[in-house]
Amino acid sequence: MKKGLLEFVLLWLLTAPEMVAQIPTYTTDIQPILAQHCAPCHHPGGLGPFSLLTYEDVVKRGKFVAKVTQIRYMPPFPADREFQHYANERGLSETEISTIQAWVRGGMVRGVQGMGQRAGGRGQGVEGSSTDNEPSALTPLPPARTPDLVLRMKPYGIRGDAREDFRYFHVPMGLTQDIWVEAIEFVPGNRKLLHHSRLMIDSTGTMAGIDGITEEDPRLRDFQKTPLADEFLYGWVPGNDRVTFPDGAAKRIRAGSDLILNIHYSPSAKADQDQSEVRLYFARKPVERVVKTLTLTENNVTNQPFQLPANAKPTFYMNYGPLPDTVRLLSVLPHMHRLGKSVRAFAITPDGNVINLIKIDAWDYNWQLSYFFKEPLVLPKGATIIAEASYDNTDQNPLNPNRPARTVGYGWNSTDEMMNLVFYYIK
Ligand code: HEC
Repeated sequence: MKKGLLEFVLLWLLTAPEMVAQIPTYTTDIQPILAQHCAPCHHPGGLGPFSLLTYEDVVKRGKFVAKVTQIRYMPPFPADREFQHYANERGLSETEISTIQAWVRGGMVRGVQGMGQRAGGRGQGVEGSSTDNEPSALTPLPPARTPDLVLRMKPYGIRGDAREDFRYFHVPMGLTQDIWVEAIEFVPGNRKLLHHSRLMIDSTGTMAGIDGITEEDPRLRDFQKTPLADEFLYGWVPGNDRVTFPDGAAKRIRAGSDLILNIHYSPSAKADQDQSEVRLYFARKPVERVVKTLTLTENNVTNQPFQLPANAKPTFYMNYGPLPDTVRLLSVLPHMHRLGKSVRAFAITPDGNVINLIKIDAWDYNWQLSYFFKEPLVLPKGATIIAEASYDNTDQNPLNPNRPARTVGYGWNSTDEMMNLVFYYIK
């Protein structure tokens, strides 16, 4: 090629508009992606540890952003979206991931300001964590609906000893008659330190003494002996602030019940306070379908005992069925502690069809979400639910809370283990 021609080609490559357009810019390509998928948490005062609203915010951490999106660590959604789809799923498409990669490789070009800002408006001024971009329930609550019952725990003083803190709180409900609840909302009193919370219902009155006790308290073992009316009313993790059941469906809470909150606080070097709140929204229409909870536990494990020997990597299997009736699953929540590695669950119908429920290849103790199916998932009468979960109880597991590894069995304590699959369902 003649020198003149080469120069011409190079010049053409540099200036041809279609070539230039292929290098993504922040304003046109990146900002809309981040506004939709990251800003709901990464805004000032949000759940994420820093804001990703402005070009300056993002450029400072460009490589990091490229990394966490490529390995699909962010946005947080541990379940495999090819195995099953969910109403509350988060995640970037392959194209969005490679656009971010290309933008960082291309030198994080800002682009023309003013372009692409339309989409960006959504990310600005996000209040709290519930936005259109972050479906946290099957259906949104009607706007400006006031709760019918607000239950507040007594203020709790978080110690500033830089250690994790697991507490149980007893909150009287004062119910003189049964209530039907179509939406449940958990409002953390301390968004910074509240790691997760599990809401349970006791109708025996025996849990009253539990208020404020730590999970190391020996009395907890006694409390655990009483089966709860509802071991799982709702599970809160950052970003899943409420659940709304489908039209005409509601959960029943019986008169005389008490609310039990199991709260995990992250370590804090400074003393702080929490007074979290649960808001219940009563069914307004006649209840046609009762929302029930099916909890598969260690008792459903087929390769008993549920025991994880020190320095072993056991897998446990569950088999539940055949179901006596057709059920419609609304959601699934797998629960394990820190030794959990992976979990998979599916159902087999009497005709031999496989219905995928959930698959998490890299269990993340920090993101224990409830996964809501896009439509209620029908498991016909006679179907069997099958699950497997693997654990790593070796010294090599950096997340092992026991040093050195010790044989671990079932327990609510975070140094013990669990294998739960919690389903909301309707008939
Ligand atoms: C549901 C809320 C939520 C969403 C949505 C979200 N993040 Fe995060 N992000 C967090 C929280 C909480 C942390 C801190 C805890 C952690 O690292 O898991 C975090 C941490 C991070 C970190 C630091 C990771 C580390 O190892 O320290 C980066 C980088 C990040 N997010 C980028 C993103 C990007 C980019 C997106 C969008 C593609 C995004 N996040 C979406 C909540 C969120």
